[in-house]
Amino acid sequence: MSADLEPKQANYSQPMTVPVITIDGPSGSGKGTIAHRVALKLGFHVLDSGALYRLLALAAQRHGFSLDNEDALEVLAAHLDVQFQDNHGEAMLILEGQDVTHEIRTEEVGAAASKVAALPRVREALLQRQHAFRESPGLVADGRDMGTVVFTDACLKVFLTASAEARAERRYKQLKDKGFSADLEIILADIRARDLRDSQRAVAPLKPATDAIVLDSTALGIEAVLAAVLQEAKKQSSLQQFFA
Ligand code: DC
Repeated sequence: MSADLEPKQANYSQPMTVPVITIDGPSGSGKGTIAHRVALKLGFHVLDSGALYRLLALAAQRHGFSLDNEDALEVLAAHLDVQFQDNHGEAMLILEGQDVTHEIRTEEVGAAASKVAALPRVREALLQRQHAFRESPGLVADGRDMGTVVFTDACLKVFLTASAEARAERRYKQLKDKGFSADLEIILADIRARDLRDSQRAVAPLKPATDAIVLDSTALGIEAVLAAVLQEAKKQSSLQQFFA
């Protein structure tokens, strides 16, 4: 990897005393659900970093920018007009004044997000925004590079994975439950394509931090994964006060 592609390390002007738990992993591993449940238990804030990439991808499409136009996307990322609002415990995402909470969750926007996320200057432009979520009493951050790049000093790093087949089946079931038509083979192919792009890109690829705890949720339910993460969290001295 050339020097200018090296991921930037955490910005040490952040309030370092605020504890951070990072939960990274591929799409469909359940990291978003686990991040929210852990945050709820500890009374922490949540950063869904994938939502930032999704919002950027949607904004790019709306402004007619090509998803590989790094110059335009870098400027858009730096000036992106987004708000994360709390809607009775659920995050409401506002892009340029419009509620796009549901629109950004489509497979199409997810694939577009994965493309803009491969651009180094786009990642750099979104770094400060992610650091700004680090607020007292603590933060649970989920994504692909939370533990490896954005919050390298996190007190607990979890890498949550599951087989592509198990993740495709979960997604298929979710869509069916919502009354959408879905094709398991297509979902599986999309998941594999996204995994490949996210893990093979030059900058901040999807991979566990060297000091991460790796959990495989293929055969585990959400409650079992949550219990395992909370058990690890309890062992961290900086988190003990939040279990009182
Ligand atoms: O977690 P998600 O499916 O909402 O993320 C959408 C895309 O954004 C994902 O395919 C890769 C990218 N992403 C990233 O590159 N880095 C992150 N920290 C979070 C998401």
